[in-house]
Amino acid sequence: MTTTAPPTQGGSRYDRLIEPTRVHGSLYTDPEIFAEELERIWYRTWVYVGHVSEVARPNDYVRKSIGPQDVIMTRDRDGEVHLLLNRCAHRANLVCDDARGNSSSFRCPYHGWTYRNTGELLGYPYNKGYGGKNKLELGMGRVPRVAVHQGFVFGSMAADGPTLAEHLGAAAGELDRLARLSPEGEVELTAGWLKHRTRANWKLLAENETDGYHPQFVHGSIFSVTGSPIGALYSDQSTAVTRDLGGGHSENDLRPEFRKFGEPMRWFGTTEARVPDYVAAMREKHGPAAEEILIEGAPHVMIFPNLFVAEIQVFVIQPLSANECVQHSTAVQLKGAPELNRRMVSQCVGSVGPAGMLLADDTEMYERNQRGVTMRRPEWVDVRRGLDRERTDERGFRIGTATDETGIRGFWSHYRQLMEADK
Ligand code: FES
Repeated sequence: MTTTAPPTQGGSRYDRLIEPTRVHGSLYTDPEIFAEELERIWYRTWVYVGHVSEVARPNDYVRKSIGPQDVIMTRDRDGEVHLLLNRCAHRANLVCDDARGNSSSFRCPYHGWTYRNTGELLGYPYNKGYGGKNKLELGMGRVPRVAVHQGFVFGSMAADGPTLAEHLGAAAGELDRLARLSPEGEVELTAGWLKHRTRANWKLLAENETDGYHPQFVHGSIFSVTGSPIGALYSDQSTAVTRDLGGGHSENDLRPEFRKFGEPMRWFGTTEARVPDYVAAMREKHGPAAEEILIEGAPHVMIFPNLFVAEIQVFVIQPLSANECVQHSTAVQLKGAPELNRRMVSQCVGSVGPAGMLLADDTEMYERNQRGVTMRRPEWVDVRRGLDRERTDERGFRIGTATDETGIRGFWSHYRQLMEADK
């Protein structure tokens, strides 16, 4: 079911649908808008695809996606990472079935054409039908641009456009902050992925990732059962801030709260005495600078349009249609930190696993929201919270309090720019 966009009254379509303090419900339901998003966002800007640690050895490969597109991330024998579209150049069969593996080539099951893991066509049976060997100049489709930051692999389906560094802007520093928590300076996403198919528009998830208004309510029961201090980070008394990082990226910067206590590992809900090997390794690597790192902890950042780092977990949003998406989630693993990694896996299972207590609550909200936006009145979704008390920080970013909708407004502002570009 879709809601109807407001009638034309001058201005562009997205100017009419996206206002500074409200967005129209049809943005979450209209299949035409979803089709346009694919062209203007998912197949144009940089999209997070996978992590180099998932293809650690030469000839490793893993199936990934860019929106509904099926992508194979490969590492060739020389170590270079490629993103190939999973489509045969003959008559378009899917070339690769397995979720992951190790192979220098792929063979299409339909007529047996084979491809190197760089996408190059290696051979085709009964080649006289094509004039002999090596006559065809065909190959698998490739994602035109591939770039990596801190091991996070991004792809752009557009041959030209801003660089990944330009796309990430200040959000790159948040991935750096995550890597800095490893005694060897490297993140690994090797714990396996959980996938939750969700009957909601992808933007409801993106908005929620740095929405500090909901945790006390949606997650109130788990906070009270576990005695978790997380809830207090997102209260009216919290000194944490919500920051619009530009480019559609946003964060809940929890560091002011952690600095207030000044306790190493509080961000992880533990004490240094419980993870002595990790803390010792960090002090050895970073010297006196380790204290600040251990106190400030990991980022809570949404990187437009689909990568969310929630301290110890990584989420990837994959849109399928206007009202359906998949949430992929995994535990962060830090190279050289086995003691912490074990705990991160069990915390991840407890929060986002099949019987986990955080993601299930969020997902319930996403699906209720999706049903809500199909109702005809009041048409608009209100995102004004905290606008009057927003301020600019020392780096020039807009910030609000821990519960303000500053990040959500930043998301929509960038979304509108992309949807209006070159019109
Ligand atoms: Fe792949 Fe024919 S479709 S070999």
